[in-house]
Amino acid sequence: EAAKAFVLKEDASLPTAKAIKIRDSTTHRDTRVKVSGWIHRLRVQAHMIFIVLRDGTGYLQCVLEGDLIKTLDALQFIEETTITIYGTIKALPEGKTAPGGHELTADYYTVVGKAPSGDAAIGNIVAPDAEQQIKLDQRHLVLRGEQASGVLKVRAGVLRAFRRAFEDLGLLEVTPPCMVQTQVEGGSTLFEFNYYGEKAYLTQSSQLYLETCLPALGDVFCVQESFRAERSVTRRHLSEYTHVEAELAFISFEDLLSHLEEMISRVLGYVLEDPSCKDIIKELNPEFKVPERPFMRMKYEDAIKWLNEHDIKTDEGKDHEFGDDIAEAAERRMTDMINRPIFLTHFPVEIKSFYMKRDESDKRVTESVDVLMPGVGEIVGGSMRMDDLDELMGGYAREGIDPTPYYWFTDQRKYGTCPHGGYGLGLERYLAWLCNRWTVRECCLYPRYVGRCTP
Ligand code: 4AD
Repeated sequence: EAAKAFVLKEDASLPTAKAIKIRDSTTHRDTRVKVSGWIHRLRVQAHMIFIVLRDGTGYLQCVLEGDLIKTLDALQFIEETTITIYGTIKALPEGKTAPGGHELTADYYTVVGKAPSGDAAIGNIVAPDAEQQIKLDQRHLVLRGEQASGVLKVRAGVLRAFRRAFEDLGLLEVTPPCMVQTQVEGGSTLFEFNYYGEKAYLTQSSQLYLETCLPALGDVFCVQESFRAERSVTRRHLSEYTHVEAELAFISFEDLLSHLEEMISRVLGYVLEDPSCKDIIKELNPEFKVPERPFMRMKYEDAIKWLNEHDIKTDEGKDHEFGDDIAEAAERRMTDMINRPIFLTHFPVEIKSFYMKRDESDKRVTESVDVLMPGVGEIVGGSMRMDDLDELMGGYAREGIDPTPYYWFTDQRKYGTCPHGGYGLGLERYLAWLCNRWTVRECCLYPRYVGRCTP
C-alpha cells in the first residue's frame, strides 16, 4: 500500500540531465545525464536494484536505491521494460566490474513502456534452451539478446569494411536490379514471378549486370540480395542472402586470385581493429586466428585425389572421380582437416556455369575458384568470364539457354570485349566463419529458407 502511494519526483535543484546514448558513457562521466533503453538484466536486493540497461549502442549498469526503489513501478520492473534513467556515471573502483568499467548512480527515472511478466515474460518465451523453430518464430525477441545482436553488429562492421576495402582498391559501387529475366547459376534454383504478365525472376547473382558496368564505370562491386530456391535445408543455404560481388576488367586469372586474397585480408584487418566489432568477435570466436598468407591453392583435380587418399566418399558412398561435383559434406571435411583457407581452382567445364572461361592450357577445366573456409566450406565463387562471342554462344548452347533475353550480356563481347573476371561472396557464410556460428541463419536479420518466410 505504501508503495502504491509513493510518487517519485525529480529533484529540481539538480543540474539539467543531458540525454546520451550508452556508447557515449565514458565521455560523459561525472556529469548528470539521462539514458533511455530497455531493462536487459535485473537484480533486486533488499536495499538496492541493479539494472543493466541496453539501448543497442551498449550496456550500462545502473544502481537504484532509497526512495527510487519504493515505487510501484520499481516493484514491477522486469526485463524489456523501457525506462529513462537520470543520474551520474562514475568509474568503478578497482575490483568491481560492469560493462564499460563504470556505473550510473540513479537519482530519478520514468518508465516509458512496461513489458509482460509471467508466462509472457521474454525469458519464458525465448529461453536459452528453447527449440530452434520457436527461436526462429520469436526471432524479433531473440535479436535483443547479446549473441544475436552481437553477430548483427559484426555484420554491419563487415559491410563497412568491404566498402572501405573496395574503395581502397578502386572499385565503384553500383546497385543492380533484383527483378530480372535471366538466370546466372542454373534454372533449378530460380524464383519465378509474374511481372505484369511476363515471366520474371528474383536475381540469383548480379554478375551479368556488373559485367555491363565495366565499359561504363571501370571495376565495380555491389552488395545486393540474391535469391535461390534451394530445396534442401542445410546449415549454409538460405533462400535470400546478401551477396557481395565484384567484377574487374583487363585482368588475368592470377590477378583475380591475388585481388581476392587481398580483399579477404583487408576486410579481416579492418574488422578486427574496429572497436565496435573486435570484442564481440573475441567473445563469439575466442579461437579465431588470422589466416596465414599466401592462402593455400589447390586445383580441383588435386582435391579429387586428396579426397580419395583420405577415404572421403561421395554422397553415394563412392570414390570421387574427375568431373564429380564435390558435395557439401566432402568439401566441409576436407576444409576442416586442412584447417586453413583454400583457393580451390580449375573446376571442370561441365559442372560450372555457362559463362566461365576455359583454361587455355587444359581445356577440360575453367579458370574458376571457390574459396573454402574451415567450419563453413565455400564462401566465395568466382571465375574469369568468356570474352569471345563464339565461345559464349557455345556456352549458352551447352547449357540449353535461349540467348535471346541475354542480348545485352552478349553485346559486351560485340562492342569491345576485354578479358575480365569477378566473384561473389556470401556475407552470411563469411560471418558464420568469422563469428563461429553453427548456421548462416544466425548471421542475417530474418533468415529465409525452405518453409520459412516469417517474421
Ligand atoms: O558460387 P555462386 O553460385 O556464384 C555466383 O553466383 C557467381 N555468379 C558470383 C560472381 O561471380 N559474381 O555463389 C557465390 C557465393 C557462394 O560462394 C556462397 O558464399 C554464396 O554466394 N551462396 C549462398 N549463400 C547462402 N545461401 C545460398 N543458397 C547461397 N548460394 C550461394
